[in-house]
Amino acid sequence: MSDAVDAAADRPVHTPGEVLLEVKDLKKHFPLTQGIVLRRTVGHVRAVDGVNLTLRRGETVGLVGESGCGKSTVTKMLVALEKPTSGQILYKGEDVTKMSGRALKQYRREVQIIFQDPYASLNPRMTVGDIVAEGWSVHADIAPKKGRLQRTQELMERVGLNPDFVNRYPHQFSGGQRQRIGIARALALQPEVIVCDEPVSALDVSVQAQVVNLLEDLQNDFGLSYLFIAHDLSVVRHISDRVAVMYLGSIVEEGTDAQVYGSPAHPYTQALLSSVPVHEPHLRGLKERILLQGDVPSPANPPSGCRFRTRCWKAQDICATEPPALVDRGQGHPSACHFAEARAVVPTEG
Ligand SMILES: Nc1ncnc2c1ncn2[C@@H]1O[C@H](COP(=O)(O)OP(=O)(O)OP(=O)(O)O)[C@@H](O)[C@H]1O
Ligand code: SF4
Ligand SMILES: [Mg+2]
Repeated sequence: MSDAVDAAADRPVHTPGEVLLEVKDLKKHFPLTQGIVLRRTVGHVRAVDGVNLTLRRGETVGLVGESGCGKSTVTKMLVALEKPTSGQILYKGEDVTKMSGRALKQYRREVQIIFQDPYASLNPRMTVGDIVAEGWSVHADIAPKKGRLQRTQELMERVGLNPDFVNRYPHQFSGGQRQRIGIARALALQPEVIVCDEPVSALDVSVQAQVVNLLEDLQNDFGLSYLFIAHDLSVVRHISDRVAVMYLGSIVEEGTDAQVYGSPAHPYTQALLSSVPVHEPHLRGLKERILLQGDVPSPANPPSGCRFRTRCWKAQDICATEPPALVDRGQGHPSACHFAEARAVVPTEG
């Protein structure tokens, strides 16, 4: 799977395999209701409004955007916890929204999720051993009953937890360790894809790096594919082969990490990147700082045309009437801006 080393990032460059997940024009509109006795629908929250994504075997796609832009709603639809309003999720070519019975059960095994808050997602009354082994009650064929304790302890060891702590409870672990429990629980089902919904956002920076490194090691060992969600572009860069930037329910720019970080073409990506810290002291003064005006508009009442126009310093009349398509406008990768223009926000060596 890994056949070269990205010198800058000092990590293997993956040669991605076949398409595993394909998301096409995915939408989720939550009804807004009014009234206590007679509930009427008075509008919709357009949490996800036309997302397209592709995830290949062995690769990591980063999905980045501010709070409330719809990232978790995308992940919930991907792991079949929410039904899309419209659009398709294809897994190995099969439409997940039409799956039932054995096919859905198999899908739920192969596509696992790791949540942002490792404490809230672990049952406080269950021991770590029971949490890790829980999925085997549904997928009994993966681990024969007799060897389950040993298998659980092997998994704990693999994710960097002391296997002697198998009978401890989640509150007896630190935040980083609890996230490792969540990872072991996902791994127990031998998944192909792990959807990581902000898995390190709640952790200290030093612990974040350890958990990201663990996820990379596991990817190399087991050939896993990740959809890695974050609101911080710097976290995603370390682990992603490709990055998609999301704003108010849809993707505004997509490309390899070199394209998105080196020559961002959408004003929103440029603004996000300008807030990422630069670690090299001699480059710090060269970075542009773009301060975004205003708040993210409500997804219940998004702006017409380009959704970013209320905060965009480049907006013109056409931006209020024509929604910009996500296409390559000459920058070598797609962006959803009528006036897309590559701009190096983060300085690089040379
Ligand atoms: N069940 C629901 N009913 C109504 N609105 C919802 C529901 N779930 C999410 N939303 C709304 O959809 C929008 C997107 O929410 P979502 O949780 O997907 O965002 P997010 O990008 O994951 O944010 P964060 O970074 O804070 O986790 C928000 O405006 C949220 O309030
Ligand atoms: S389409 Fe217009 S408003 Fe939207 S990002 Fe581009 S310039 Fe800004
Ligand atoms: Mg979220």
